[in-house]
Amino acid sequence: MTQRSRLLMCPPQHFSVLYSINPWMDQDRPVNVKQAHAQWQNLASEISRRMDVVTVDPDPACPDMCFVANAGFVHGNTFVPSRFRYAERQVEEAGFREWFRAAGYRCVEIEEDCFFEGAGDALYDTKRNVVWMGSGPRTDAKAVYELAVATNLDVRGLELVDARFYHLDTCFCPLSTGHVLYFPQAFSEESQRVLAARIPASSRIVVSETDALGLACNAVDIGTGIIVNHATPELRSQLAAVGLSTTIAPLGEFLKAGGGAKCLCLPLPFPSSDRWGSRHRRSHGPFELRSGTSV
Ligand code: ARG
Repeated sequence: MTQRSRLLMCPPQHFSVLYSINPWMDQDRPVNVKQAHAQWQNLASEISRRMDVVTVDPDPACPDMCFVANAGFVHGNTFVPSRFRYAERQVEEAGFREWFRAAGYRCVEIEEDCFFEGAGDALYDTKRNVVWMGSGPRTDAKAVYELAVATNLDVRGLELVDARFYHLDTCFCPLSTGHVLYFPQAFSEESQRVLAARIPASSRIVVSETDALGLACNAVDIGTGIIVNHATPELRSQLAAVGLSTTIAPLGEFLKAGGGAKCLCLPLPFPSSDRWGSRHRRSHGPFELRSGTSV
């Protein structure tokens, strides 16, 4: 029997827009809490039909903690914790370190003076065996070197130049099929050239600004397709033309904080299941995952 992939999520009990650290966040545009909880639950249910979802307890002091992609970078049983740029999110660091240690991961630290926002900016391209790393708004360019040393992986830097696309996963998504969804204008010209040189045109799926602003690149890879907040019919047919399905899970409340489907998840490729004690398998009040869940 093949093992189902595992992925981490954090229930949005305390999700809110209480500060503004990216252009999407406006404290005068309040989150509809009920709607946010329903959207998260729907996403978690969609995902748990295909993968095992485990959760980390939300911390009341961390309104952005549901965006677990930013916890750090995970490769095998190695966890490289983030060093957030803004104090508002630095408060999440200790809790994530503790969770990964308790789950049996080896924590490998990068230099303290280097900002690094985990799987929001560092995306493993399984097909090419490289990690693409976005830098500029959040992660420092020198994190390319830091992550390469920490993981022994081939890390390639990409420069982000549009403040709306402040994390790499808001404008770029390498899929396990080798296709890459991306919004080229979010990158410097040099980085656009790097991508064009490394990824054949037939594998590059260019999204429009409309799709990019619906966070269509912020997609959860399910192998045969994607789960995403939004995709125009044009994008859906581009995906269908290469054999990929599109499942829409609306996440408008989370877009108010600048995050979509992929930001709310962190794949956990750690292969062994015997280290997972029952303490990692709780459900959280109203957040009962309905199908195929290991929570
Ligand atoms: N409000 C959060 C922040 O600005 C959103 C993070 C979204 N996460 C991501 N991986 N793009 O940090």
